[in-house]
Amino acid sequence: MLGIRPCQDVPGARSEAELRDYVGKLLARGEMLVVEREVDPRHELAAVIKAAQAESDLPILFRKVRGSAMPVVSNLYGSRARLCEMIGAADGNYCTRWRKLMQGMKPSAPDFLATVAPPADLRAARLSELPQITYAEHDAGPYFTAAIFLAREPETGVANLSFHRSMVVSDDEVRIRLGTTHDLTRYQRKAEAQNQALPAALLIGTAPEIFVAAAASLPYETDELSAAAQILGRPIAMRPCKTIDLMVPADTEIVVEGEILPNVRRPEGPFAEFKGYYAPRGEQHVFQVKHVGVREGAMFHGLLCGSPEDTRLLQEAIAARIYNHVVAQAAGVIDVAVHATLLCTVIKIRQSYAGQARAVAMAAIGSHLDYNKAVIVVDEDVDIHDLHDVWWAFLTRGRADARTLVIPDVPGFYRDPHRDHWGRLVIDATKPFGREDEFARRRIPGEEGINLADYAVKR
Ligand SMILES: Cc1cc2nc3c(=O)[nH]c(=O)nc-3n(C[C@H](O)[C@H](O)[C@H](O)COP(=O)(O)O)c2cc1C
Repeated sequence: MLGIRPCQDVPGARSEAELRDYVGKLLARGEMLVVEREVDPRHELAAVIKAAQAESDLPILFRKVRGSAMPVVSNLYGSRARLCEMIGAADGNYCTRWRKLMQGMKPSAPDFLATVAPPADLRAARLSELPQITYAEHDAGPYFTAAIFLAREPETGVANLSFHRSMVVSDDEVRIRLGTTHDLTRYQRKAEAQNQALPAALLIGTAPEIFVAAAASLPYETDELSAAAQILGRPIAMRPCKTIDLMVPADTEIVVEGEILPNVRRPEGPFAEFKGYYAPRGEQHVFQVKHVGVREGAMFHGLLCGSPEDTRLLQEAIAARIYNHVVAQAAGVIDVAVHATLLCTVIKIRQSYAGQARAVAMAAIGSHLDYNKAVIVVDEDVDIHDLHDVWWAFLTRGRADARTLVIPDVPGFYRDPHRDHWGRLVIDATKPFGREDEFARRRIPGEEGINLADYAVKR
């Protein structure tokens, strides 16, 4: 079908249940919160996720969720350290590791995919057997928030992985809100122009490397399964779907096969999304379910929108995209961080000329028009993941008026009828060029090596 070769031809290709392997690994390392008591999927489960995230960034496994035999895992992606580990960024610099991985991507499908038979433990199920999780108070009903949509470009066959919140309506129907800038939206428009349905599979519970690849926005022509294989370091074992002409990662816990109907829109929402507000009810696309494949002992992934699990991964994905763009345009760029709302970018540079911070900020704004509402540029001694440190740099390293630039009337985040996200703010929080020595940061020799327990006890 797509020139995919058999798994046994490809050294290293595997067909193991990758998400379970990963969850098993975290359990073995004692890095998982486990909830043994039964929880209600309507609000209670989300409330427990929120409470747990307020205490730590550990993932959570709910063993008993009312109304479903499946356990639910959450907050797997809610830690920078875990995300860095997933892509092999040993030094904690996600952006540089991501850039290196993407530069090594295999361009043609046979090099990064391998075909395997469907897992022996795969069985057909109904959508209503999956945990029906309702998150926020005014959400219209249960939603899939961590399902990866896998679809192919109608003309080229290039595969895309992306997330789109999906309201579960019945065993046969899910309603999805397609973001205007996403590749899947363009695929759907192309199919719809021919009055064709767009086949797609919802992957719930994949290998972490596939999840991380799905969060990235790669160029339209890039096959995102190739990105996933590049992170995995081996071809992805794929199996054919039962009812649509599509291959899916064989290890996926749950695969919902179906198609996005052309010229059909039905009400979806309201739904509490990542910015912390409700997106209102609107007429959205309809995904007709054709088959649900569930592996024996499958676990479901429930993700609280706007929580650290959602935003940390998107922060890294967006930062990597901005870094990739900026590093090609301007000198001295070391690292990029994006903060929780996703609209604030902080860039670390090594200064070599006056005005460099502004030049870098301009490049960043051009890198991603949905985000970068505020761009702050700092020197290499500032912790870009700590906004206190960033703000300290701005307030102590120069004038407020001369280092702030407001760019009026630039459209921003795409769903913005009232223009609330128009305009841009650039903050140069770097040291004045040529006077760097005056701003050398205070340091106490030996401070990094102190283990307080060797000196002090709590009484
Ligand atoms: C966990 C998670 C959930 C997301 N949910 C949505 C969503 O519901 N709607 C949306 O428009 N974008 C959502 N996004 C953002 C994008 O779908 C995502 O980053 C995607 O990779 C964009 O893909 P594309 O650029 O290949 O089209 C989500 C991202 C993550 C990481």
